[in-house]
Amino acid sequence: MRFDLISIFPDYFAPLRLSLMGKAEQTGLVDLHAHDLRDWATGKHRSVDDTPYGGGAGMVMRADVWARALDEVLSVPLPEPCGEGAPASFRRVLAIPTPSGTPLTQARVEDLAHADQIIVACGRYEGIDARVAEHYRGAGVEVVEFSIGDYVLNGGEVAAMVLTEAVARLLDGFMGNPDSLVEESHSGAGLLEYPVYTKPREFRALEIPDVLLGGNHAAIERWRRDRAIEKTTRVRPDLALSLDASSLTAEDRAALASCGVAYTRDGTAYRLQVRLAQPDDAAAVSELAARTFPDVCPSSLPAEAIEEHIATQLSPTVFEAVLSSPEEHRLFVAEVEGALVGYVLTHVGAHALPGDLVRPGRVEEGSAYLSKCYVDEEWRGSGIADALIERAVADAGEAGHAAVVLGTNRSNKKAQNFYKRHGFRKRSSRTFEVGGVRNYDVVMVRDLTA
Ligand code: ADE
Repeated sequence: MRFDLISIFPDYFAPLRLSLMGKAEQTGLVDLHAHDLRDWATGKHRSVDDTPYGGGAGMVMRADVWARALDEVLSVPLPEPCGEGAPASFRRVLAIPTPSGTPLTQARVEDLAHADQIIVACGRYEGIDARVAEHYRGAGVEVVEFSIGDYVLNGGEVAAMVLTEAVARLLDGFMGNPDSLVEESHSGAGLLEYPVYTKPREFRALEIPDVLLGGNHAAIERWRRDRAIEKTTRVRPDLALSLDASSLTAEDRAALASCGVAYTRDGTAYRLQVRLAQPDDAAAVSELAARTFPDVCPSSLPAEAIEEHIATQLSPTVFEAVLSSPEEHRLFVAEVEGALVGYVLTHVGAHALPGDLVRPGRVEEGSAYLSKCYVDEEWRGSGIADALIERAVADAGEAGHAAVVLGTNRSNKKAQNFYKRHGFRKRSSRTFEVGGVRNYDVVMVRDLTA
């Protein structure tokens, strides 16, 4: 690939002959040309700039000088593409660095790596006469005006080097180990890279995360992905809200939801807040409970029994009572755009466990009892339920409970698998009345002491 960097300071580009870039030039992978714009200037002073029409501070680079340079460089012969399927014409790109250009992104760089020639026209002073970009665009040249960030440099040279390195390193054969390109920031799904560590193992009392020392590759991969998600949501929420949703697994969605980003099934991202419910949430939680509870009932359960359960057990009055004693009942809600879309309720007081569970041998006394975790239909699969469960479990752990116990209908295998993924294990069974009808639950326990 050929790069032509044109500037009034061509020596600026000397560092591009170092390191991997230098090697790529020696091996012919890149063909680097630094040009002095003044070679195309005329007159005694070989001037390249003049005062701006309309007045104002500074000088503007002349279109005629640039056009002479660009006409020549845009028509240099390029090596004939070889091999089957080689394109019939060359792709030549005129790149103009300017703080008013479109942001240079990895996606843009990946696209530019398919060009045959990139010419970078480096402006100085107040920039290049606007007719240069206009003329070449009009003449059918691919013109890219790009910015490397929301700050202003003295000229385009540094941005030209940024573009050159970012593009060249993607060329086949540039990297010693092409795997290095696979998991880096801004690649793939669009996550920032996870933290990396090497020897020495001990450094100023800072430790290597245990999982990286254990050799469990699946666990290491999960840990890295979770850290990448956590970092992206924290430092670049804009990226976390524009991920390629088709590449997100259920575990990714759970990690994102725990960090405050929820993706719907159609791939739209929303900010999510998981918070402790307040007394004035009682009516909204009751409505949410009423619309979600029927979904977890077995089809054999009569509608009247479900209605009776909702009217007696999930009424606003019941939730008002729950929310009036947060030291005994811990109710977390998931909120998206001001609407409640999920909740989890755990009983943590001295009498948290229902009578049938405290019978000797069933579950440890003093366990917290997770009585409900429901999410609106449209948000299932978004990771919100996972975020709610983890929040409730963490809360119970902080309150000193050694285990969290729950009961879930024995026919609801999906729910049982969900709780299993969250570390709950089957312990026993119990019966559970819904509107006077007896149901059979499995009892699952998550040990918090491990
Ligand atoms: N020239 C001056 N500032 C620039 C920036 N931020 N990006 C690209 N070119 C520039």
